[in-house]
Amino acid sequence: MKVFSKRVQDLLAQMTPEEKIAQTFQGLVGYYHEEGVKLEDLTGPVSDQTMSESIAWMVGSVINNSSADAEKNRKVQENYLANNRLKIPLLFMTDAIHAYRTVFPIPLALACAFEGKQAKEVAGAVAREARAAGTHVTFAPMLDLTRDPRWGRVTEGPGEDPYLGTIAAKAWVEGFQGEDKQQLKDGEHIASTLKHFAGYGFVAGGRDYDDTDISKRTLNNFVMPAFQAGVDAGAQLVMSAFTSVDGVPVVVNKQMLTDTLRGKMGFDGVVISDYGSVPDAASYHLVEDAAEATKMAVDAGCDIDMMSFWYPNYLRGLYNEGKITMEQLDTMAGNVLTLKENLGLFEDPYVGMSKERTDELYLGKRHREIARTTARESAVLLKNEGVLPIAKDTKTIAVIGPHANDHDLQGAWASFCWNGENVTLAEGIANAVPDTKLIIEEGCGFRESDAKLLEKAVAAASKADVVVLALGEQTEWSGENKNLTDISLPAAQLELAKAVIAANANTVAVLYNGRPLALTELDEIAPAILECWFMGTETGNATADLLFGDYEPTGRLAISFPRCTGQIPVYYNCPIISHLNKSGGSEIPYVSRYLDNSILPLYRFGEGLGYTTFEYSSVSAPDVMRRGETIEATCTVTNTGSREGTETVQLYLRDERAQIVHPGKELKGVQKVTLQPGESRVVTFTIDEDMLTYVHNDGERYADVGDFAVMIGHDSSADDRKYFTLKD
Ligand code: GLC
Repeated sequence: MKVFSKRVQDLLAQMTPEEKIAQTFQGLVGYYHEEGVKLEDLTGPVSDQTMSESIAWMVGSVINNSSADAEKNRKVQENYLANNRLKIPLLFMTDAIHAYRTVFPIPLALACAFEGKQAKEVAGAVAREARAAGTHVTFAPMLDLTRDPRWGRVTEGPGEDPYLGTIAAKAWVEGFQGEDKQQLKDGEHIASTLKHFAGYGFVAGGRDYDDTDISKRTLNNFVMPAFQAGVDAGAQLVMSAFTSVDGVPVVVNKQMLTDTLRGKMGFDGVVISDYGSVPDAASYHLVEDAAEATKMAVDAGCDIDMMSFWYPNYLRGLYNEGKITMEQLDTMAGNVLTLKENLGLFEDPYVGMSKERTDELYLGKRHREIARTTARESAVLLKNEGVLPIAKDTKTIAVIGPHANDHDLQGAWASFCWNGENVTLAEGIANAVPDTKLIIEEGCGFRESDAKLLEKAVAAASKADVVVLALGEQTEWSGENKNLTDISLPAAQLELAKAVIAANANTVAVLYNGRPLALTELDEIAPAILECWFMGTETGNATADLLFGDYEPTGRLAISFPRCTGQIPVYYNCPIISHLNKSGGSEIPYVSRYLDNSILPLYRFGEGLGYTTFEYSSVSAPDVMRRGETIEATCTVTNTGSREGTETVQLYLRDERAQIVHPGKELKGVQKVTLQPGESRVVTFTIDEDMLTYVHNDGERYADVGDFAVMIGHDSSADDRKYFTLKD
């Protein structure tokens, strides 16, 4: 039997089986009204649940995806506690991913900062707003690495690289929870949930919920490091994925949820199923019997049933029939009660929550500044042939495109408490250059051409000194269950770009989107391209900060941009293979190639420009490294441009003697250096043995003795190698 705190053990000793079972499932906050519990007008899986008023006063938690109103949530908790026999507080959970009321850049954008600072700041701000409203748990961070931008959920994750995945995991967990566990009780932090454990980013065809069939090699060395970093950072919950590992749905996969997650990885918190997925063993037709599927989830180690209501329907019967034990119920309920204890809810279920606090935080100065700064530092300048930065004394600027002046800039998962306040691009430009004449034209719809709009846009471009062409996606094109078979920029937008650029070559294309797009045709005609992603509340101001050079773009791509959808999957850390195609082109036969295109992405991982240029010296490093010791690799970086600039120096390693097929290079370190024009600096990376390890086919993580190559450069094309040998 798992040992819990005295308080939890005492509660378990007093609780009936019904009360313990009730801690393992959820209600909807909509049940609870001022005058009590109303179970009407509920949709989805809850409509056939057997919730009753007595049970409603026992449930362990609610999904609270609708209310940013602290006073309303306070009333729900007050009513609940007035009716809960043992005064066990209700847990409020929601998807506060990159927004609560203020909207920050999407997680994929924040990953492009190539450091954790920005994600940590965003998580801290989201946590403050959520806790002030009475929310205790967020279903974030999403740590699903992927190589498939057709998959709409790429928008929520940290991109394609395990190192950046570990950076993101630590940053988001510490931002949400604080670095010290006690901070969960301070009224400014919330519990975080690592999701979706594990391998969801490998859904077939980029289709949500579809089959995932990934090797142990990929699972252990690509998918798991981010989750391990999240566990090590103290995440309080883990959410099981909708998908399966080795053919066993994760929610009923004991090897994953207990042996690996709790055993090998050391997780000691709450496991919650993804929405309505407890019945997965039945949904996958592994079992007929609903009760048996439910038992499988319990046996696997799933503590909370998110909104499938199979736990309330079947656990009592399974217990009565001796198919699950009181020890299992005590462990599940004990994990949930411990989470409430860690959040300080037994001492004060209202800590930090008030309307005064939400009024101060929501869209307030402090959080707007975080939204603006992190948006600036996540944008990636993909191309710039003399257009940027735009002079502030420019007389006339045409802001053209479907995103020129629209508010749809928040990205997926920002919708629960957002209602349209984003600063538009045109508003941001007007704020930055109030004396400049702006001509604003939509030019086309997001997917629809319009001859009249096009004509007006071309006329505007012809009259302007500079054109800012605002293109991209709508929020609802990415996120859960928003998958595409074609990630090209829509034809209508390309048609607009061609016409506008023909009318005025002094054009910069600004992109607001939630996934990598296939931009080959745009890249052929646009002299400048600034990838802004979905930036949220401060979009226009952050974009203007970059366009006019008050700040330089410093973001780097955390995910490769394919030339076309047919290239997917294309990623930088691809393995060393026998028929390697060094040029990437189609000219050499009998190598990994396409007949009709390069195998290399249009924009590679780690790529991104600023407003100056940098040069790198050759890499220096010792020839030998002993096990347990460290070595230093150095490189001199010089600002060869005419203005101050920040370079994201990237360290890549290549294992020349791996015992299994292994990536040709892996990002293992990042340092940002700010240099004045002409200034040089020696950048030093310390390489330790852990950086050389990988999980072998025997399941053990260790480094092989043998040769390694060190590369230090601007992006994943760095290939100036200094070799060293790891020796015992
Ligand atoms: C959804 C998502 C998950 C989310 C949960 C609650 O289906 O898969 O990421 O946290 O349900 O909204």
